[in-house]
Order: sequence, then structure tokens, then C-alpha cells
Amino acid sequence: MSNLFNTDILQGKVAFVTGGGTGITGGVARAFAEHGAKLAITSRKEENLAAMKAAVEGFGGECFTVAADVRDYEAVENAIAKTVEHYGKIDIVVNGAAGNFLCAADQLSSNGFGTVVDIDTKGTFNVCRASFEELKKSKGQILNISATLHYLATPMQIHVSAAKAGVDAITRNLSVEWGRHGIRVNGIAPGPIEDTEGMKRLLMPELKDKMTKKIPLGRFGRIADIENSALFLASDGASYINGVTLVVDGGQWLLGTSLM
Ligand code: COA
Repeated sequence: MSNLFNTDILQGKVAFVTGGGTGITGGVARAFAEHGAKLAITSRKEENLAAMKAAVEGFGGECFTVAADVRDYEAVENAIAKTVEHYGKIDIVVNGAAGNFLCAADQLSSNGFGTVVDIDTKGTFNVCRASFEELKKSKGQILNISATLHYLATPMQIHVSAAKAGVDAITRNLSVEWGRHGIRVNGIAPGPIEDTEGMKRLLMPELKDKMTKKIPLGRFGRIADIENSALFLASDGASYINGVTLVVDGGQWLLGTSLM
């Protein structure tokens, strides 16, 4: 973690984080707890959340875990209700649950395409929709974890590109519709971030050097880079930022995410 921000900037806030057990969103969840937020994290399998709960409680934070598949609206409603029962409110929602794999469009089944859209796009909508009444009460905010794959075109990623384009549309639409309730809705689009499941799944090790050469800042991102951006967007310092998806990629997408 970095210490760019005062440790108490999220003191008194309750953050509900999907996909908050591991990876980039796990880092964001832990950083929020390190900066004073009470955490609720959710994943399809509750056992995937145990390590994060232990880590957060290890430094004196609070971490409530609840199993839910973001594709299942009733399960999402239940997770939100249980979190409110536990903490009394929700101030921040982070949509980080995502699915990904590499597959050429002419090999991808309709169900494979739909599965990723269901997790990323419909899952994001489900969580936003189910938390609306709570966020209205708290004048809270939503942070959607997106990607840059769809800004140009990324081969083998048609499903995720379509899904994340939908997530960005949700960010913009809700920022307009829900801004009047005092709810801010923003996103973060990470570039290639090292030491994540995503990079292990999506980048063959022999291509790492080739990709690094296409990143203007000349390095992969670190989970801490995303944590710092999320802390800023979640803080009062960003209180007039609404409807933005902040790209945190070292300038990579401007040269294209494709290695072809
Ligand atoms: N290539 C092509 N198609 C694939 C695939 C792959 N690597 N992995 C899954 N699919 C297809 C399946 O074949 C299936 O389609 P079909 O019924 O036409 O055969 C469809 O996707 C659903 O697969 P299933 O395994 O039943 O879905 P699931 O809900 O259990 O899993 C995934 C969701 C597919 C996203 C899975 O990769 C997953 O759970 N990943 C873990 C989380 C993750 O990806 N994190 C991303 C970090 S960046």
C-alpha cells in the first residue's frame, strides 16, 4: 500500500465491494479499510473471502463477508440487505466482480460471450440498482472497475470489450440520473497491472517485454496505482467528479492494447 493519503480519509464510511477478495479490487478493498472504511466484500464463494477478512482484521479493520453471484439479482439484494443489517448503511459501492478469458471471436460460444456480459455488465447494473435506496440515503457513490480494451479494439477480447463498454455506459448514465440524489458515479480503467490473476490469465509471459515497450511510461502498473486512484475518487477531494472513468494505464491505450 502507499501512504499518499491520510489514513482516516474514509473514516466512518461503509464500502460494499464485489470481487473484493482478490486482485485489483481486493487491493482497493484493503486500501479502503486501511484508510478507515468498514468493509463488506462479496464473491460467489464465501471461502474466497476468508483471506481478505483475516488480513483486514489483522490490522484492526472491520470486514463483513457475504456470498452472492452478481448475476443473481435476489442474491445481490440479500447481500446489500445483510450489509445494511450489519453496519446500518452503505456509503461506497465498488463493482469489481468480473470474468475474463482469452478467446477468438470465431471460437467463442454465445454462452461464453453472454456469461462475461452477465457478470461484468448486468452484474454492475444489479449491484447499482439494488444499492440505490441506501446510496440515496447516504448521498454515497459508486466506483465501477472497467478496462481500456474497447477504446480501440483488442483481439481475443470481444466479450470483455463489449462488457466493459456497457459498464462505462452504466457509469455515465447513472451519474446523470442519480447525480440529483447526491450520488456520484465514476469508474477506473486499469491498464496492465502486474501480479494479478488477470495478467496471469491474459498475457503469455513471453509477451511481457513486447507489451512493456508499448506502454509510454515503460512499466506495468501496480495494484497500488489503482488503490491510490480509487482512494482519491472515493474521497471528499473528488466531491465534484461525477461520470468519469479515470484511465490508469501509463498511457498504454493511446498506442493500442493489441500486440498484433
Ligand atoms: N474460452 C472460451 N470459452 C470459455 C472459456 C474459455 N477460456 N471459459 C469459459 N468459456 C465459456 C464456456 O465454454 C461456457 O460456454 P458454453 O456453455 O457455450 O460451453 C461459458 O463460457 C460459461 O462457462 P462456465 O464455466 O459455465 O461459466 P462460469 O460462470 O462458471 O465461469 C467465467 C465464468 C467463464 C468468466 C470463468 O472464467 C470464471 O469464473 N473466471 C473467474 C473470474 C475471472 O475470470 N476473473 C477475471 C480476472 S481478470
